Amino acid sequence: MQSQLLPLSDMPEKLPLLPHSGRSSRSTHAAKALLVMASALILAGIVMVLCQCWSDLDHFDEPEKQQFDALSLFLGIPSAERLRDNLWYYTSGTHVAGINRTQAVYTRDYFRNQGISADIVEYYPWLNYPVDQRVALFNATTSEVLFEAGLKEDVIPGDPASSDPNNLPAFHGYSADGNVTGQLVYANYGSVDDFKALKAAGISVKDKIVLVRYGNLFRGLKVHGAELEGARGVLIYSDPAEDGYVQGSVYPEGPWRPESSFQRGSVQRMTVYPGDPLTPGYAATEDAPRLDPSKATNINHIPSLPLSHRDAEPLLRALKGQGKQASEVGDNWVGGLTSKGVEYWTGPSELNVNLLNKVEYKTMPIQNVIAKIPGQKHSEEAVIIGNHRDAWCAGASDPASGSAAMLEVARSFGELLKQGWQPRRTIILASWDAEEYFAVGSTEWGEDKSDWIRENVVAYLNLDGGVRGHNIQFKATPNLRPLIYDVTKRVKHPHSNKSVYDMWYERENSVQKTHRKSHKPHVGPLGSGSDYTVFLNHLGVSSVDFKFDGGSGVYHSNYDSFKWMTDFVDPDFSYHCAITQIWGALTITLADAPVLPFDVHEYAKDLHKYIDELKTRITSSSRINHTVAKRALRQLYKAADKLGTSARHIEAERRHLQKKYGERCSMIGHHRLTVCSDIRSSINSRLYKLERDFIDPMGLPGRKWYRHVLVSPGKWLGYGSQTLPALTEAVEEGDWKRFKALAKRTSEIINRAAWSLREA
Ligand SMILES: *[C@@H]1O[C@H](CO)[C@@H](O)[C@H](O)[C@H]1NC(C)=O
Ligand SMILES: *[C@@H]1O[C@H](CO)[C@@H](O)[C@H](O)[C@H]1NC(C)=O
Ligand SMILES: *[C@@H]1O[C@H](CO)[C@@H](O)[C@H](O)[C@H]1NC(C)=O
Ligand SMILES: *[C@@H]1O[C@H](CO)[C@@H](O)[C@H](O)[C@H]1NC(C)=O
Ligand SMILES: *[C@@H]1O[C@H](CO)[C@@H](O)[C@H](O)[C@H]1NC(C)=O
Repeated sequence: MQSQLLPLSDMPEKLPLLPHSGRSSRSTHAAKALLVMASALILAGIVMVLCQCWSDLDHFDEPEKQQFDALSLFLGIPSAERLRDNLWYYTSGTHVAGINRTQAVYTRDYFRNQGISADIVEYYPWLNYPVDQRVALFNATTSEVLFEAGLKEDVIPGDPASSDPNNLPAFHGYSADGNVTGQLVYANYGSVDDFKALKAAGISVKDKIVLVRYGNLFRGLKVHGAELEGARGVLIYSDPAEDGYVQGSVYPEGPWRPESSFQRGSVQRMTVYPGDPLTPGYAATEDAPRLDPSKATNINHIPSLPLSHRDAEPLLRALKGQGKQASEVGDNWVGGLTSKGVEYWTGPSELNVNLLNKVEYKTMPIQNVIAKIPGQKHSEEAVIIGNHRDAWCAGASDPASGSAAMLEVARSFGELLKQGWQPRRTIILASWDAEEYFAVGSTEWGEDKSDWIRENVVAYLNLDGGVRGHNIQFKATPNLRPLIYDVTKRVKHPHSNKSVYDMWYERENSVQKTHRKSHKPHVGPLGSGSDYTVFLNHLGVSSVDFKFDGGSGVYHSNYDSFKWMTDFVDPDFSYHCAITQIWGALTITLADAPVLPFDVHEYAKDLHKYIDELKTRITSSSRINHTVAKRALRQLYKAADKLGTSARHIEAERRHLQKKYGERCSMIGHHRLTVCSDIRSSINSRLYKLERDFIDPMGLPGRKWYRHVLVSPGKWLGYGSQTLPALTEAVEEGDWKRFKALAKRTSEIINRAAWSLREA
């Protein structure tokens, strides 16, 4: 009964075939004739122009009548008042994955009330919930308990979210059940390098309870690193240097993390695979076969808990004088509690620590809400926008600011539809569940619909916590960068008379004063940490993730509340408005553009940079095989050049189309119309399927769920992106045999991608 979803049956299985007929090849000849001129234009630095609505060309029988400027109309619709109401709704009750069906029903009905069809699509992943937890410091000889950690966040008078009886205690999603005891060792951030440095200093974490601080790498990888070193359990605390009083006043006086606050979160080994641990690579439908939990490789086996710095302080004090002084082990090993007289020592402690993490694992129904606005012209092509709905607590910034925006995008689209808007492509709005456990709802849906997604999805636009601060930040596949710039130029930045783009540009160019020449704002590659993962890394869909960012002191705590948001971040909801406008504008542009505004040239340019970075890494490697390295780099650069050449070709085809027919194919005569539509379909299909071509069906070594050869979450970073991941890892491991094979394979994949871009 579940996983019945989108009536996908009414969508054609396949895109139109690429034109191979005589008339198409005639137009191909024409395209080639124009190529030189067009290439020259591109070389002259003319970048892609965003398609605006052409209102004067639409008199003919093809239903190409976007009579009004949907984008301009849309920008006028979002309302701060509505966004405020939406945020209030989502933050007024807890909604940890699987436990608040009411919010799913509300979201579905909200979509439906805008005239948009919507359904709840359920999956049944394996999730854990906290039952009992304890962290205590005791004398093993006398059993005398010297300290019991509180493991609860203080109630803040005036903030109802902080006293919700359903709030979770200290807890890590996908943490191992366990009750372990041992001496304590401090391991800084718990990175691979930190564990190495400890070892070099003669300190072992074997059979110890490891205390690490948040920051630097994804928490699940800290636990995994400790597990590999033989530790019994891990405590991860929020050091005030990271997001507490060292940064500024703490909540409720300021936005930073107060002393009792801790950061919940998933400790999944997400770099192996995200989503449900028991159904890797396929959907967790109700009757799907499941792995035995002992066979699930994306979860850790030692228990862990998050701690506040108030609870961590006595533990750190117990290390004083034991082992080595942390500052001797490495730079940057000392946190911010020194102002309270804490010295940072490695231990092991003389006292023992008991860590109890009793959790219950069960198969739970989760609810994605999937809404659909059918496209009128190219209904088989779809743009998906997604945001997760579940939160660890009230989740005002993460994710309710994004969920509020999603409802407002839906309402605005509903308005446009009433006014006669007919989006060219299908738009899907996805409200994901269980993202916090690590992209579970989106991953299961993506695995469920993989064939359809591969064939039809043009792009995925993710908004997680949309408003956490005031600085716009984008990560995306390079081909979407010009679109991002164009859209942010059209949206006004709150409390200024400038566009979001201008403020972004000015901030980055004033921060980076050292650079001689001003440059366009940074749009970096996607790592992981939100719902785009299955789309980009598993299925090869071009993706964007963005937010208004700022230091967030209440991340994954009870204080990420409506009060916190309205006191410190967005009292008038103008940032919510701007993020809604950006999201909707990106969507409308992608859904309506006759020719997709994808810039392959940007991809080729970035690929060159990725190879440059690989080269730097090779150069600094101690075990370099020069022969292999030289040849591999030559192959890779050559492939990247080929992609650049193909980028110029497809740009030329596009210009030819525009010149000869107009991108809307609005001309007299059925024959010309068919020719134009065929050429246009072919260009579009090649543009958006380029990303698919970077998927290696074999997957990355040791983690075959991740299949994009150009980008993945860093094996030991998690959130952070690693470009050319398999090659980089081979260099790091000094495995030149593997490197050689991978370089050949990667070059072939890029060559093939460049080739299929030109196939016409
Ligand atoms: C679910 O969310 C709604 C709306 O935010 C809230 O009223 C309700 O109390 C929540 N349910 C639970 C079990 O927390
Ligand atoms: C956890 O282990 C400690 C020490 O072995 C023991 O005293 C305590 O009873 C255990 N707690 C639970 C809930 O099993
Ligand atoms: C544990 O208790 C014993 C007995 O009182 C005492 O000798 C010892 O110093 C204590 N250990 C620590 C680390 O405090
Ligand atoms: C924006 O422009 C208006 C009219 O020129 C002016 O009154 C206002 O102060 C400006 N706002 C900002 C933030 O610069
Ligand atoms: C470098 O790799 C090549 C090809 O695998 C191999 O023949 C050669 O012995 C290697 N050279 C060194 C110095 O390891």
